[in-house]
Amino acid sequence: MYLITGVILQKTPFAKEIRLKMQKNLPDSIDATLEMLNGGGYVADRALATVLYLSLKMGRPLFLEGEAGVGKTEIAKVLSSALNRPLIRLQCYEGLDISSAVYEWNYAAQMVQIRMREASGQVNRDAMEDDVFSEKFLIRRPLLQALEQVDGRAPILLIDELDRTDEAFEAYLLEILSDFQVTIPELGTIKAKEPPIVIITTNRTREIHDALKRRCLYHWVDYPDVARELQIVQNKVPGISAELSKEIVAYVQKLRNQDLFKNPGVAETLDWATALIELDKLALDPQTVSDTLGVLLKYQDDIAKIEADAGTQILKEVKQELASA
Ligand SMILES: Nc1ncnc2c1ncn2[C@@H]1O[C@H](COP(=O)(O)OP(=O)(O)OP(=O)(O)O)[C@@H](O)[C@H]1O
Ligand SMILES: [Mg+2]
Repeated sequence: MYLITGVILQKTPFAKEIRLKMQKNLPDSIDATLEMLNGGGYVADRALATVLYLSLKMGRPLFLEGEAGVGKTEIAKVLSSALNRPLIRLQCYEGLDISSAVYEWNYAAQMVQIRMREASGQVNRDAMEDDVFSEKFLIRRPLLQALEQVDGRAPILLIDELDRTDEAFEAYLLEILSDFQVTIPELGTIKAKEPPIVIITTNRTREIHDALKRRCLYHWVDYPDVARELQIVQNKVPGISAELSKEIVAYVQKLRNQDLFKNPGVAETLDWATALIELDKLALDPQTVSDTLGVLLKYQDDIAKIEADAGTQILKEVKQELASA
């Protein structure tokens, strides 16, 4: 079983006017890029919009690094929806190899074809070879799929969590990102008519080689500030009250200053907001916070640390600050 997702056509709702405006052209300014991201429900700061605008304009891959759950993958999804291009996702993992990432031959189908030819007496070796090593028997994996246009448009290629692969694969990727072509010994070289838009993400569990980074534009995706996180929660958790969302965001922002083993990302903030709505809560209270910490924190040491005393203190501060705001 492969952990690779192929072509995904994004169906996220997207304002029709923005989609139409974006259909043929890429955004023509930083403001238009910001508008495009906002239109897709992505709350971005100007620095991200600038680097994304430049990467689209300059045709360079965008290298997004950041902690877990800060919205790196989401950028590629929103881009796919906004630009109306298919998203091809290569989910990286340890041991990822070319046959899973680029192409492989369909051996079973080739064997059947050989047997059928033998049975019908057609055993010309050259003809047989040409036949079984034709495109019909080629299984295209994401990096090869990404070289092909869909409906006349180059796709978005998301190379997700690159830090999980090994250096050998990284070196191979470097080659693909330089020429946007793949050589298949039995078939020849396949070159992209138009290079895909490439987004690479990493959680920095290991450093990615400089040679690869140099071909990309780099952006560190940080945790959002209070205002942006509040906007994300209000956009993504329908029906949440202003008071509860402010308390949730203030609490999570303070948690991120507690020197935890793993800070909660935006994904956890959204999960917590959804969980509290499910529990019909209108405001935070110590018992509810303690009972639902497992939605925010995923390490027992972190949970124990917050439950012990910091959690109550944080809640007091949040209530006081919001009351005096
Ligand atoms: N700026 C943002 N605007 C809107 N939604 C956001 C934003 N940042 C994060 N999210 C939401 O947070 C969730 C997590 O985002 P995403 O999966 O892209 O994170 P990630 O950085 O790729 O995490 P990981 O490293 O674990 O893969 C998604 O539901 C996404 O919609
Ligand atoms: Mg991700």
